[in-house]
Formats: sequence, structure tokens, C-alpha cells
Amino acid sequence: MSKIESLYRDFLQNQESQSLKRELIPAFHPSSREIIVADKTYLNFSSNDYLGLSKHPLSVKRANEYAEKYGAGAGASRLVTGNLDLFKTIEDKIAHFKKKEAALVMVSGFQTNASVLPAVFDKKILRQDALVFSDKLNHASMHVGCNAAGVSQIRYRHNDMAHLAELLEKHKNDNAPKFILTESVFSMDGDIAPLDKIYELAKAYDCFTIIDEAHATGVLGENGSGLAHGADLVIGTFSKAFGAFGAYVACSKILKNYLVNKCSGLIYATALPPATLGSINAALDLVPAMDKERAYLQNMAQTVRNEIQNLHFDCGESMTQIVPLIIRSAKNTILVSDMLKENKIWASAIRPPTVPANGARIRFAFSAAHTQNDVDHLIENLKKLKTLHHNQGAIS
Ligand SMILES: Cc1ncc(COP(=O)(O)O)c(C=O)c1O
Repeated sequence: MSKIESLYRDFLQNQESQSLKRELIPAFHPSSREIIVADKTYLNFSSNDYLGLSKHPLSVKRANEYAEKYGAGAGASRLVTGNLDLFKTIEDKIAHFKKKEAALVMVSGFQTNASVLPAVFDKKILRQDALVFSDKLNHASMHVGCNAAGVSQIRYRHNDMAHLAELLEKHKNDNAPKFILTESVFSMDGDIAPLDKIYELAKAYDCFTIIDEAHATGVLGENGSGLAHGADLVIGTFSKAFGAFGAYVACSKILKNYLVNKCSGLIYATALPPATLGSINAALDLVPAMDKERAYLQNMAQTVRNEIQNLHFDCGESMTQIVPLIIRSAKNTILVSDMLKENKIWASAIRPPTVPANGARIRFAFSAAHTQNDVDHLIENLKKLKTLHHNQGAIS
């Protein structure tokens, strides 16, 4: 082993000793509600396939049709030869869906935050350093984007509007362009940012708002169109409720044109493959009419939240299809995840740095594909957990 590799090995050993080592586990999804691992079938309560669209016949059919017609790959960046005519159709639909002037399809949600944010915060264009006020629990990809932009974020306590107001007030005489950056639905907590208050503060302190709707798009708001219609720039993905892959920004025409000229993730990346565009296009046709599934989904999450609270466990401020069972210790979270697995429930342990130190949890994510029996089975096992907790103090 080289000296350099031994440093990586030391890191892995250290992660393991703290119950933080991650593994890639081969899996198969026979449906949107199940997962097969090592020949065992589990109920899948960890997927972001919130509407079960990854297996929808129309999404799969259109993916196949587009692959047949256009081939397996786009061949180049959208600015070179990869801008298939399909993009315009899809972008028009997204702009309409998100009630914005324009939309731009991107390669993935992570890559969008990592490359759109540096373009938007570009110091040369803004002619000075941007001041970026960001929620402490923003997704890793937003930090990557801020770091790439070279901005040092001014971070406010999670969803704490008094703290945001205090920080804005402190910087009110600074002439720098100001941005507020948040998720609308937080990925690991399932709670919702107080968007009206954010817009109010943005107006009072002349800030540009950027909101990541990864976990709201398709699931919340009118026709599933999300919650952040008042934002200046909306970022979202097709990898979650849309059951596909890829991402988008929705914004003004000027900003779209600016990104086409400035965003590295668009300029230097091969366009999404046709099959993926097929699934996205199908989902854009399906999602607006899925109110029944959305209501079912939120009801199911509420039932489980009620149960978690009755058992005196902690599910934080969850209000959506994402319901955490906050355990705190990484080791105990793995114990709980393993116990659930023994009972055919796949619910992954989420550990730091994905969540803050001492914030390890099981993150339950529900899907409209789950049945009442699936939820009953989960609740039964949460009750069993209570007994385990009493006997071993597994959940602190
Ligand atoms: C808030 C948020 N933004 C962006 C992403 C990245 O999206 P994608 O998985 O499409 O790359 C995620 C994924 O988990 C997310 O939770």
C-alpha cells in the first residue's frame, strides 16, 4: 500500500470505529414499495420515489420510445450538438408548471446546485462578493456550490426567522448583492421553510431568493407544483417524486440565458440521455393530475407521525412525506435499522455528516405506492421498537 493510500485507509478505519462507515449494497427494486437485497425482500421506506412514478408504465414506455427514436445518449453538451428538440417541450412544460418565465433542464440536482450557484454568485459579474444567507441545514450540494463560488455563507439557525432577520439587519449597510438560500422541504427532517416570512425579509432587505424544491416538487402545492412560486430562482430535481433523473431551474428569461452562457454544469456536461427525457416528459404529464396520490401520501405520513409521537419518540418538526425517527447516536441508529431489517423493513440509518453531529436518525420516506398493510407493518414494528428501547435504551 502506498503512503498516500494508507491515509485513505486510516480515514476508513476511523469512520468504522465511529459507526460512520458507508457501504454500497447491491439492490433490486421489483416495485416502488419493495427492495430486494441479498435475495431478501423488504418494504422500502427509504426511497424518494414519492409518487411511485419510477415504475409507472407511461414513464417506462416513453423512456423506451425515446431511446428507440433518439438513441442511448445525447452525444454532446446542449451547446454543442446535444440540445435535442425534446428539451424545448420539456422546458416549456416546467416553466408553466412552476409559474416562471423560463426553465432550464440540468443533469442532476447535485450538479445543479454545484454549478448554478457559482454562476449566480460570480464575483466578476456581480462586481463584488455576494452575501449569502443560508439555512444551517441546507443540502450538501448547496455547500459545494457556495464553496465553488468562494463565498463564505452567513448561516442562520434552521428555519429561525428571528436569527435570519438579525443577520440581515447586521449587514443592512453592506452594499453587496444579497441572497437567501434555502430548501423548501428539508431532506432529512421533512419540515418546511417559512417561505412567506423569507419573502418578506427578502423584500425588506433587498435579497434575491434561491429555493431548492427537490422534496416539494410533485408532492406539495397546487397540482404538485411545489411551494416556492415566490422565489427568484427555483431549483428542483426529477430524481425524486418524478421517479426519473435530472434536474431543472425555473427563473426569469434573463437568468436562463445568463446560465446558458455562464453555468459550467450546462456548458461542459453532456446533455441528459433521451430515455431520461422521456420519463421526465411523461412525469410532467402525470404529476399535475395526482392529487389523490398526494393526499394519500400525506395522510400516511401523518398516521406514522402520530404513532411516533404516541410512542414518545422524536420525529422533529416533520410535516411532509419525510418522517425522521431521531435517535441521535449513530451506533444505536444502526441497531434500530438492523432490527427493522430483521422485520422486512428497509429504513436506512442516516448519520453525520449527512445530519448534524449527534443527529443520527432513521429517515422514513413514504410513497403513494405503499399500501395500508405496509404502513400497519411499519407501525407494528415501531411499537416493538418501544419495547426494545425500554429494555436496552436504544433510542435516547
Ligand atoms: C435538497 C436537495 N437538493 C439536491 C439534491 C440532489 O439531487 P439529485 O439526487 O437529483 O442529484 C438532493 C438529493 O438528495 C436534495 O435532497
